[in-house]
Amino acid sequence: MAKKTTATKATPAKAPARQETMTLIDNRNGKQVTYPILKGTVGPEVVDIRKFYADTGLFTYDPGYGSTGSCTSTITYIDGEAGVLEYRGYPIEQLAEKSHFLEVAYLIINGDLPNARQQAEFEDSITHHTMLHEQMQFFFRGFRRDSHPMAVMCGVVGALSAFYHDHMDFSKPEDQMIAAHRLISKMPTIAAYAYKYSQGQPFIYPRNTMNYTENFLHMVFATPCEDYKVSPVLAKALDRLFILHADHEQNASTSTVRIAGSSGANPFACISAGVASLWGPAHGGANEAVIAMLTEIGDKKRIPEYVKKAKDKNDPFRLMGFGHRVYKNYDPRAKLIRQTCYEVLEEVGIKKEPLLELAMALEKVAIEDDYFIEHKLYPNVDFYSGIIYRAMGFPPPMFTALFAIARTVGWIAQWEEMLTDPETRIGRPRQRFAGPTTRNYVAMKKRK
Ligand code: ACO
Repeated sequence: MAKKTTATKATPAKAPARQETMTLIDNRNGKQVTYPILKGTVGPEVVDIRKFYADTGLFTYDPGYGSTGSCTSTITYIDGEAGVLEYRGYPIEQLAEKSHFLEVAYLIINGDLPNARQQAEFEDSITHHTMLHEQMQFFFRGFRRDSHPMAVMCGVVGALSAFYHDHMDFSKPEDQMIAAHRLISKMPTIAAYAYKYSQGQPFIYPRNTMNYTENFLHMVFATPCEDYKVSPVLAKALDRLFILHADHEQNASTSTVRIAGSSGANPFACISAGVASLWGPAHGGANEAVIAMLTEIGDKKRIPEYVKKAKDKNDPFRLMGFGHRVYKNYDPRAKLIRQTCYEVLEEVGIKKEPLLELAMALEKVAIEDDYFIEHKLYPNVDFYSGIIYRAMGFPPPMFTALFAIARTVGWIAQWEEMLTDPETRIGRPRQRFAGPTTRNYVAMKKRK
């Protein structure tokens, strides 16, 4: 891997000197257009086509943005071919082993690892913003008991904008920081309340004596009837999962947050949009879908049948938890999550977990299959995480809510980076129009 410079917070890296260019010829008229090639610190270079429409009258066409860089970022680097993931230059494996979620959150938001004082101040601020405005409880009560937690989170996270509007000048770093801290602090409380409400149990208030992940587990699983002791092994495992889910550069939900925020929208509303995007089964909702798929498969004997279905172009079925837009190799997060599975299963006393055995057998069959090899389809972050969450006692509809807690850190860091980037413009893609050309309005009585 090429050597990189250390990323720092401030504004995204300035475009380096434009030395190299790309020339394109429009074969319709022979016109040549030349565009600068911008280098990053590592990874593919980008062609700066901002003047392309003005020069040619053409739009580029890239549904799904497979070849489009939408911004300059200094936060997360992925090498999908090599299976590399780094936050601010630090390999995910090192962070998962040596760090903890709030330290990683500080790193992602501020650009560098904190010193002891910075970490203590940050943790103190996050710990002291975990309570929700008491009136927000009425929001929860307005939902049906069987509402999906992600539906509740979309609504309640957006509603934060109505409750916390005392620091709303988001051009000021201080107001950005307050919004960031509020979101990171309150997301676990919102997710825990969504769970409690679905169970018909009383909400458990946050406890400032516990760390971030312990406090979340306590809010989810404690009841007022008896003492609940948080297992340090489970808290550590969940904390590691939060680290692994904290950011992933310009994925669907992050791009949603950025594009929503590019209009100057309220950050709580932007993060609510991110939650909505994450919920989809092609994105963060895959962790819930994997458990549903494994339960449906049910037996190792049926694996070939489902692998065959996944390869059949006439069948919409896909192996959930497999494949990724960027990783064309094993997702490094999936490897780390698979290791964590064993620790969690041992802690909760599950000697034999049929779903884990089934998942591993499915992975083995799939990664040795020509179709999956040719298409470079490997297990992604969502393939094993549900097995851990289930063993911890979370019902499948909560899985994506856990993802949302962790990804809030990435969303908010990317939102702040977008706001402070002088090159940011309102996100506004164009289209190839293929609808009817101009036609005259027809009165109702003359329509067929
Ligand atoms: N099972 C079977 N075939 C697959 C799968 C899969 N899980 N994923 C991709 N393919 C095939 C496609 O059919 C396509 O084949 P073709 O080229 O022969 O037509 C090819 O691989 C490329 O697939 P695309 O959908 O074009 O790839 P894209 O980058 O757009 O999609 C995605 C990536 C959405 C993750 C896809 O792999 C998928 O649907 N996976 C299952 C859902 C999932 O696990 N999502 C979680 C992703 S991680 C995250 O977001 C947190």
